[in-house]
Amino acid sequence: MKILAIETSCDDTGIAILEADSKGHFKVLSNIVASQTEIGKKYGGVFPMMAKREHQKNLVPVLVKSLKKAGLLKRMVVNLSNDKNATTKEILEREPELFKKLIPFFKKYQKPYVDLISVTNGPGLEPCLWVGVNFAKALSYFWDIPVVPVNHIESHILVNTLENSNIKFPAIALVVSGGHTQLILVKGIGKYKILGETRDDAAGECFDKCAKLLGLNYPGGPIIAKLAEKFVGSPTPHKLPRPMINTKDYDFSFSGLKTAVLYAWRKEPASAGSSGVARMAAEVQQAIIDVLIKKTMKAVKDFNAKSLILGGGVSANQELHKQFLQTPGVCNGDINFFAPKPALSTDNSLMTAITGFYHKKETKPWQKIEADGNLRIE
Ligand code: KG4
Ligand code: ZN
Repeated sequence: MKILAIETSCDDTGIAILEADSKGHFKVLSNIVASQTEIGKKYGGVFPMMAKREHQKNLVPVLVKSLKKAGLLKRMVVNLSNDKNATTKEILEREPELFKKLIPFFKKYQKPYVDLISVTNGPGLEPCLWVGVNFAKALSYFWDIPVVPVNHIESHILVNTLENSNIKFPAIALVVSGGHTQLILVKGIGKYKILGETRDDAAGECFDKCAKLLGLNYPGGPIIAKLAEKFVGSPTPHKLPRPMINTKDYDFSFSGLKTAVLYAWRKEPASAGSSGVARMAAEVQQAIIDVLIKKTMKAVKDFNAKSLILGGGVSANQELHKQFLQTPGVCNGDINFFAPKPALSTDNSLMTAITGFYHKKETKPWQKIEADGNLRIE
């Protein structure tokens, strides 16, 4: 079967086409992402209404590119009835710019050979989610293709099955992104329990905010990672805190770390220059890694997990991988370790397609699909 997937939960506009056989062997036909990183850099972060406008601009061009790459874009003059035009307009009532781009597309190309549409309907930035959801509804209605809504956090986990569908359960998943930090017990695909999560900032948000304090660009995670990688020197004198590292629960808290960085950075002499920034970057990264590893390995032990799965933008951090791979249990192969490659750690629609495959029987009439910014995986 062929799945067309749409992802707009934050500031990346993604459309992928995935071919899957009944055993869950996948072939990626296309995976196109239009990133808004340059806008994020200019304004120092993501602003939902601005991101929504960009999704409206990007979705049709990204769809064209994705179908073309997959060999599914076929020209044909399509007559559009007044009814079809009116219903599409109604579906995209709140996305008029997208409607304007979609109608000429519908008139120019034939229905592609796609069996299922999957779309992220949460969690994420609600105005952004709605653009993707309404786009999926319009395509589903116009082409008469079934549509399945999928959870973004589950997608960050299941992207790990792209090349290996034999994950042993129970597994512990650590999903760490700009918006979320969650430890999840995975009893099987579709069977989840959230063990703990951040009480304030997400790990990625902490990377981003600390980077901003250090005068670095957005998104801060990859910049801090790069600086930390280059840093060779003595351990920092700052001794940043490791918030909640020894608590008995599986929750996290990162806002205190950001405040500690603020005060430590104020004391840093200007003479420290760029090596001072690099040292602080290394220290911030290590403080976050220490907490993530300690809490995750506690969950792995407490639940006798056979596998450990990482996902989300922060899981692109190679130092985090390296240090997880050095922990007892993981380093001797008792616990199978899964982490996506960096391009699949950050938001993309291939993960939405994979999750759509596992939930292919849970399609819904397009009229009933809604976005939910606070959607839970449980
Ligand atoms: O999953 P994602 O693309 O979007 C959300 O759903 O939030 O995650 C984005 C987050 C940003 O906070 C970014 O700074 C962080 O992932 N990130 C990293 C790295 N690459 C991206 N954090 C640490 N190290 C990295 N290499
Ligand atoms: Zn994400």
